[in-house]
Amino acid sequence: MKNNEQEITDLVDLKNFVDYNQEIKENGETFQKVMCIYKMALKELNNKVEIYQEEFKTFYNYELIDHINFRIKSPKSIIKKMQDRGAELTYKEMIENINDIAGLRVICQTQKDIYSIKRLIQNIPGIQTLKEKDYIKNPKESGYSAYHIILAVPVVLSTQLIYVKVEVQIRTMTMDVWASLEHKMKYKTQKAITNKQSKEWINCAKAINKIDEKITNLTIKT
Ligand code: GTP
Ligand code: MG
Repeated sequence: MKNNEQEITDLVDLKNFVDYNQEIKENGETFQKVMCIYKMALKELNNKVEIYQEEFKTFYNYELIDHINFRIKSPKSIIKKMQDRGAELTYKEMIENINDIAGLRVICQTQKDIYSIKRLIQNIPGIQTLKEKDYIKNPKESGYSAYHIILAVPVVLSTQLIYVKVEVQIRTMTMDVWASLEHKMKYKTQKAITNKQSKEWINCAKAINKIDEKITNLTIKT
């Protein structure tokens, strides 16, 4: 591991803030406080991305960002994810290994915009990139396509500065429609999807990505 990465990891843990080895109690005061810190980081980042959205619209007459969604993972989902992974239910495990407690989704029009947005977000002063995954160049087996970044976002409190992880997913509108529907079909319906349906979803994703690519090329040329 590079020195730089080590430093970032040290900053991200909320060690000074919470007894790290303490067991998570979903309804406890500590859990509420930790969730509050994640919420603050999310607000902070959302505000900055909204500024870019407004800047591009007002100053360049360009809809770089169509819309932004954000959410905090519910306590039940956090605990379920940890249990599914067989992790100990401690704050240490949660803070170090669950990267999507705070999640922000940025939806735009073209693949090229995704890369512009990614660069803008990564250049926000004070924000550090912990991890990034390009599922546009390398879609997941399911066909899922998007750009993911795990950031360390600084939250400035009266007596300390805490770096908090936020997962950012950047998608085009078409990628977003696919992902939302596929997720609904896979996780929200009671019936498991068949192999044939699964292949169809992959085919749809491939078709969508081709169209996204064509649209990007068209907008570059004009
Ligand atoms: P997890 O958050 O545990 O899944 O960690 P990971 O390392 O696998 O993260 P990854 O960046 O691959 O994906 C995290 C998120 O991307 C998920 O919570 C979904 O929101 C989205 N995602 C990933 N794969 C798929 C997929 O096949 N279909 C859909 N609809 N969404 C996906
Ligand atoms: Mg997730």
